[in-house]
Amino acid sequence: LARGGLEADLAGRRVLITAGGTREDIDPVRYLGNRSSGRQGYALAATAVARGADVTLLSANVTLPDPAGADVRRVRSAVELQEAVLAESDKADVVVMAAAVADFRPAERAPGKIKKQAGSGPAPIELVENPDILAGLTRDRAHPGQLIVGFAAETDRVLEHGRQKLARKGCDLLVVNQVGGGKAFGTADNQAVVLGADGSATEIPHGPKEALADRVWDLVADRLTPRPR
Ligand code: CTP
Ligand code: CA
Repeated sequence: LARGGLEADLAGRRVLITAGGTREDIDPVRYLGNRSSGRQGYALAATAVARGADVTLLSANVTLPDPAGADVRRVRSAVELQEAVLAESDKADVVVMAAAVADFRPAERAPGKIKKQAGSGPAPIELVENPDILAGLTRDRAHPGQLIVGFAAETDRVLEHGRQKLARKGCDLLVVNQVGGGKAFGTADNQAVVLGADGSATEIPHGPKEALADRVWDLVADRLTPRPR
């Protein structure tokens, strides 16, 4: 049973949460995006507020109402999200990267709407890689006790890919969702396994995103260094 709501076990803790999905502009009217609704990140923010945390939510293109009590800032692209994360992460005791960050962006944003050229086919869109925000956070940890949580959506060999990703990203916890077949994206329910850098694996049964969020906070609370008295 999740402990959420029973105690303000995150009181005085500063948490930074990213939610939603980045948009990478092609021209003034078009972008590359993804299907992330932001619901899991918003559920994490709402449950953290309920458990007493001081919550900053960096929201990328989410249409949900702001969670009461969270400080919500809006960003659009991966580069904007990285800037906002870097401006806030020093203060944070916990950073949760629930946002779906585009791996690539167009090398250039066309200043005007791209027109189709009669006769010639479509021009290719050249892509460049976005910064890996999560890997950067764990590489340059703001302070030794800071806890960093990543999310991953995998369609197959979930545990194997999750373990590899946890190691590659260097985060303390990785919440691995199984996706595909209508699971997770845009739905209210979620199912996951949370892998720990300590070798732990915690299964979270299928249920509402709020329940998953509360279980994630349980695992975070267990790993936070005790508050000085
Ligand atoms: N992430 C990030 N910056 C990126 C890409 C991803 O911070 N440029 C974060 C996501 O917010 C998430 C975690 O990294 O918490 C894992 O994202 P995922 O897309 O699963 O990882 P990738 O390393 O991009 O691997 P893949 O090739 O599977 O997309
Ligand atoms: Ca990716």
